[in-house]
Amino acid sequence: MSTRTYTLPVEQTRWMVEGGTQTVFTWDYDEGRDRLLALYEKGKNKQWNSRDRLDWSTEVDLDNPIGGPEAYVPLYGSQIWEKMGERDKAQLFHHMASWQFSQFLHGEQGALICASKIVQTVPDIDSKFYAATQVMDEARHVETYSRFLHEKLQLAYPINQHLKALLDDVVTDSRWDMTYLGMQVLIEGLALAAFGTIRDIAENSLARAVNAYVMEDEARHVAFGRLALRDYYPQLTDSERHEREEFCAEACYLMRDRFLAEELWTNLALPVNECLDYVRTCEAQVHFRSLLFTRIVPTLKDIGLFGTAIRRAFFDMGVLAYSGIDLDAVIAADEAAAGEIDAARRRQVDQAIAEATV
Ligand SMILES: [Fe+2]
Ligand SMILES: [Fe+2]
Repeated sequence: MSTRTYTLPVEQTRWMVEGGTQTVFTWDYDEGRDRLLALYEKGKNKQWNSRDRLDWSTEVDLDNPIGGPEAYVPLYGSQIWEKMGERDKAQLFHHMASWQFSQFLHGEQGALICASKIVQTVPDIDSKFYAATQVMDEARHVETYSRFLHEKLQLAYPINQHLKALLDDVVTDSRWDMTYLGMQVLIEGLALAAFGTIRDIAENSLARAVNAYVMEDEARHVAFGRLALRDYYPQLTDSERHEREEFCAEACYLMRDRFLAEELWTNLALPVNECLDYVRTCEAQVHFRSLLFTRIVPTLKDIGLFGTAIRRAFFDMGVLAYSGIDLDAVIAADEAAAGEIDAARRRQVDQAIAEATV
């Protein structure tokens, strides 16, 4: 890890956050909700090893690491982009992938910390069981993104300020449901949508598989948040629910702004304000940022946090229509996509063996 190249000076490699948590033991080992226990079984059965499931010998072209189309670059179509030479465009592709995967990595570490915090703070044994499988999932995700950045991209970015601010809010809040809401519903819901765009456009098979396999696990994590909160939120008062909706609305604005990628333009010495203006208003980018909410909006509706404050924020962001998305169908599609990549790899290996034995 120490040989990783950070693009910006990192003042410190350790970030310590105070968080007053209350640790809850339960002596009731028998009461388990069927759907949560079923998810726990699935979590145990679906563990995978990054070292074996992914083909780490795959070459990654640093001039376009994920093998995406030019239109994928946020500045595509702008005057800044038009004036760039081939070398500068290649450098932008490389930095953009590094920036993006670095934020995935830092977010995954946040998920690792939050999942372990849930084990400690959630009152019921079935939730503690499930969260324990998630701790292992998140450790594997940190390992996988870290390896991809280190071995393949050879470049990493520090955590984005908006993501850091949100993680700070989530980790310092002592209420167990706020950890779920901030991490399982908001940060992971948005990450799922962002992983999905890479999975669906990447021509590089390793970049595609990394995201597809992580998504397969994340779908369970979001389901865990839904199951736990759907039971809990109807018990809260209107003002308690309202406070959580306000938190969600603010967090959604923070997360949307993270995708303006300000530090990327700064680091590449591009005209930052011009880049931000373009990314903020360009139709394709506005559409891309709205797609990031395809998982969050229906989930908040599902758990019963869908009052005026949150609906107003989603209307303002142009994402309210996503409330009609069928989450179970989307989760099934994520699992199927990971299975198809496994099957394609098996076919490839079978073919290589057949050719070698002719
Ligand atoms: Fe994860
Ligand atoms: Fe997760």
